[in-house]
Formats: sequence, C-alpha cells, structure tokens
Amino acid sequence: MEAAPFVAEADGKDQLRFITCGSVDDGKSTLIGRLLHDSKMIYEDQLQALTRDSANQGTTGGDIDFALLVDGLEAEREQGNTIDVAYRFFTTPRRSFMVADTPGHEQYTRNMATGASNAQLAIILIDARKGVLVQTRRHSFICSLLGIRHVLLAVNKIDLVDYRKDVFDGIVHDYLAFASELGFTSIIPVPISARYGDNIVKRSGNTDWYDGPPLLDYLESVEVGSETAGLPFRFPVQWVNRPNLDFRGYTGTIASGSVAVGDKIVVAHSARSSRVRRIVTYDGDLAAAEAGDAVTITLEDEIDVSRGDMLASPTQPPEIADRFAAHLIWMDEEPMVPGRSYAFRIGTQSIASGSINRFKYKIDVDTCEPVAAATLNFNEIGFCEVATVLPASFDPYRVNRRTGSFIMIDCYTNRTVGAGMIEFPLRRSASTAWQPLTIDKEQRSTLKHQKPCIIWFTGFSGAGKSTIANIVDQKLFARSYHTMLLDGDNLRRGLNRDLLFTKADRMENIRRASEVAKLMLEAGLIVICSFVSPYKTDRDMVRKLVGNREFVEVFVDTPIDESVRRDPKGVYAKAKSGKIKNFTGLDAPYEAPNTPEVHLKTLDEPPEQLANRVLDALATQGIISMK
Ligand code: ADX
Repeated sequence: MEAAPFVAEADGKDQLRFITCGSVDDGKSTLIGRLLHDSKMIYEDQLQALTRDSANQGTTGGDIDFALLVDGLEAEREQGNTIDVAYRFFTTPRRSFMVADTPGHEQYTRNMATGASNAQLAIILIDARKGVLVQTRRHSFICSLLGIRHVLLAVNKIDLVDYRKDVFDGIVHDYLAFASELGFTSIIPVPISARYGDNIVKRSGNTDWYDGPPLLDYLESVEVGSETAGLPFRFPVQWVNRPNLDFRGYTGTIASGSVAVGDKIVVAHSARSSRVRRIVTYDGDLAAAEAGDAVTITLEDEIDVSRGDMLASPTQPPEIADRFAAHLIWMDEEPMVPGRSYAFRIGTQSIASGSINRFKYKIDVDTCEPVAAATLNFNEIGFCEVATVLPASFDPYRVNRRTGSFIMIDCYTNRTVGAGMIEFPLRRSASTAWQPLTIDKEQRSTLKHQKPCIIWFTGFSGAGKSTIANIVDQKLFARSYHTMLLDGDNLRRGLNRDLLFTKADRMENIRRASEVAKLMLEAGLIVICSFVSPYKTDRDMVRKLVGNREFVEVFVDTPIDESVRRDPKGVYAKAKSGKIKNFTGLDAPYEAPNTPEVHLKTLDEPPEQLANRVLDALATQGIISMK
C-alpha cells in the first residue's frame, strides 16, 4: 500500500494483532524469536542455522540465541524513507497472531506508530534490572495515542534479578502509577525470561509467587473485542467500477460495520441517499457483508458517487468538515511548516491541498506533557488544527481507527511527511456558514464584458515585477478592461503589516494576498498580483485556489546578480550590510517556476515588450481579445 503507514488489514476474526515495544537490549528480538520457536513456526532448516549461528556469535553461550533469528531478518529489510515495519505471523491451535515488528531504536517513533496503528495489544518490555525507563513511558504513550487498549507488561530478564517478587512488584507499581492516565482497558503484568522461557508458554517453577497466566496463554485468550463490527457502516469508495452503461458499482473494503442488500445508505459528501441493490464479489453476490470484506456495491438510484466518497449509515453518518483538530506525528527530516500546503490522504480521499492552520503544541513524549513549540521536527508528535481546501469525511480516531487517520504528503517530493489521528471536527459557527451570493462571478464579469483572471508575477525583488505589472495594467485599462493591481510592498503596509519575512510569514502573506485576489476575481476583475512569492508550494496553492483556467503565472526572470545591481529600492545594499536578514536571493531561497504560463527574460527585452508578451499570453488563453 503505497506510502500509507496505516495498514488496512481486515479485522481477522480469530487473529490477534500485537506490537512489541522495547529495544533489543530489553529482549524484544529474543521474545519474538522465542514465541515463533515455541509455537513451532520456525522451519527446521532455519532452526539448524540458528543453532550454528548461536554457537558462533551468540551471546548466550551454547543456547539458541533467538535474537539472531529476528535480527537476521531485520538486516534484510530495506532502509530508506519507507515505513519500516515487518509483520510476522504465527499460529497456535487457539489463535493466529500477527506481530508488528518495528526497529527497536527509540528514535523511530514513526515506525512504532505505524505498527501500533494496526495493533490491538502491545507487549511493553521492561528489563527487570532497569525498571520503568523514559523509553517505557514513551512507548506506552504512543500506543495509547494510536488507540491500543490492552497492554501486556512483560518484565523480562527476571532470571537476572533472581526471580524476585519484590523487584517485579516494584516495577508494576511504578508502571501503573503513570499508565493509569493513558486510558488502557487492561494492563497485565507477567514476569518472564525470554531467554530461558520462564512464563512464556508454561508457568515457571522459578516464580511460584506468580499466579497469573503465562504470556502465550494470555495472548491466546485475551478478549480484545472486534474493533469495527459494532461501529456504524463505513465504506470508503476506492474506485467506481463502470465496465458498461448497465453496470455502475462502487468498489472498496468495508472499513467498519456491516451492510445488507436493501439497506439504506447515504453518500457522505453529498448527503444523497439510496438503497443497496447488490453486493458483488468475485465469488458471486452476497446478501450481506461486513468490516474487512472487499466488495463492489451497486445502488438502486443513479446518484453521483466518486472515488474518495464514503457510503455510510444514514442514521449515523461520518463527520464532514474542512477543519479538524488532530494529533500529528512528523516523519520527515524537514520540519513541518505551519501554513504550508501539503497533500492529504484521509482514507481513500485524496485532497490536493491543506495545511496546518494552527499549530497548538508539541507533546513531550517522555512526560506526556504539552510544550510550546513553533514546529514539529522528525519523529515528534504534536497537536494542531488542519484546514483542507475541500471537506473530508471521517470519524474521530478514538471512535474509528480506520476512518479517523490521515497521512500528509509533500506535494513536490511525494514523500509521506506526517501521519495523523483526527480528534474532532472544528465546526464553523452558524454565523459563518457559507452564504450563497445571488449574483455570481459569471454575471459580474459579463457586465464588464470580460473574463476575470489572476495574473501572478513572481521573481526577485528588483527583478522588474512591479514595473511590468504596471505597464500591463495600463495597457488593459486602455482597452477598457476592469483591473486591479495588488503589490507586495503595498499590501505589507496595510493588510499584511504584521508580517515579517520568515518562511511562515511569507506563506501567510501569500495566503492573504491570494484570498483578496480571489475575492476580486469573484467580482469579475482581472487581478494583477506582484509578489516575490519565493516558494513553489505557495504559488501552487494560489493556483489550486483559483483553478488553472483563471490563473496566469508570470515568471519575471532576472538573475540575482542583475537584480542586486539594479537595486531600485536600495534593499540589497541594506541586506548586504546586515540590516535585513532572510533576503530572497541572498540568504533566503527562491524557487523558480518550472512551467509558468509566461516566462519573461528581462535581460533580453525592455519592459514594454515584456508587457506585450503578457498580453499575448492572455489573448492566447482566450482571456482578452486583441482586436
Ligand atoms: S514575499 O516574499 O512575501 O512574497 P513581498 O512580495 O510581499 O515578499 O515583498 C517583497 C518586498 O519587500 C521586496 O520587494 C523588498 O522591497 C522588501 N523586502 C524586505 N525584506 C525582504 C526580504 N527579506 N526578502 C525579500 N524582500 C524583502
């Protein structure tokens, strides 16, 4: 599944999905190896190799070193920016298991979170000699955040503390003292020795003071309940299956709840409703289907449903909102930038643009406390408000892990940069509901005998943007077009006077400018904008806000040396003498457009001719007529 960290696995009926948290030093690999071995799932030839390796390089002096088994597999795994989680399967007569195995390095919050997002139970490993560590708290916090409700506290290496009850009791006491806040439904402590097998499969004679079940017994019998069966029906549409005019079906995997032929459903985004006509699978039609089933659903009525929509229970529909509060795990080396445009995937919905609208705080995972911060760095977790350009359908993650998570993607590198858990939708108050206007853009521009558009000039300070923009404005005005010119310098004296030149402030500068430009576009005007706008994502955000048809990007291409030489406002001189910092082209970046609608090379032609090029482009795009 592409870069998505949330593995969409079916809710196995008799399968327990769990994650082990701890480092190799705590005995994590040994425990997994021991479980795989004692449940007889290791192939014979692998076992022989293991015995040999252990003798050669194991640290256990002749015994089988189970850690080698797991670490060996780990070494084969590809590194890189992919989410690094391996799933192992083993079966006992009573249950089958899926273990999410994530590299134990404590830095890798994102890997752990990925494994945890899919698990029903966590085995939290503690080294009996060390007790509860910062890392134990961190792991427990992440498990709780990712929706795990059952914890098996494996106090390992109990042999190394002489199987002492008081040591075990002390650790359990410490753990419960802080974990009681984390909302786990059950916490079962077990004293074990993964190396010698104490209390793994059988109760150990070495700990006769312990009267609970051995670890495997607990794993085999713990009631985790079905996560999805009791929830309302959710069916994210993966694709619209339309082989011919007579058949129109919606294909996907039921995320939660169940559905039967004849059931009433609602399309989340449009609130249109219909009834289920057929539930189609490769093996024929079904009368009913439930969470985890991959099916194609056809409806009684011809209603509009597209990829990314959600079919849902009409009495308990999902939330629909373009703003929500969420916990966010940052996964990219580059810090998160509030206000920057990122792509979002929420279930099967792809939303081209959205941003962290308000970053509230970072969470210190060692203390579980919120701390003030301006951004999130690699592996950090925070709480924020997200705004998306289009509304999304979802449930709070607490209620439904399948429909309440999202990932964030960098629009340019295509990397998955963040993963989030939605907490709640942010409703607009009734007074700010969208008010339809009776007179629309079309009518307003028709009255002016023109097609509205935004002409967006970008380039270095001193490149000639304002000069050319002004000539374009005059030429259009002379031809009786209704225009308005928005200039960065001018807006920064009023609307944007609170903004500086940090990355975040420049984004906010462009966001506000583009909203104003869009209002003027709605009024039917040709809006000429002149902003350095050094970041591609920001310019693309404007493009997405407006739509390609009405957006003309003009790259005023003056090399930096030439802009510095011209320096019409003396700003480069100031920047060079250290009076201005973060100056675009000097100590702040400029990302040139790759495919602007108009590319003006100011070294080749005078401003007048360059302005004519812009007019030509407008004519070619059918926005103005040159007659
Ligand atoms: S933008 O980067 O946020 O798009 P904007 O177009 O509004 O910039 O303003 C740019 C103008 O502000 C420049 O023409 C220049 O005169 C002035 N300026 C002051 N400080 C800076 C800076 N650090 N970088 C670029 N321009 C600056």
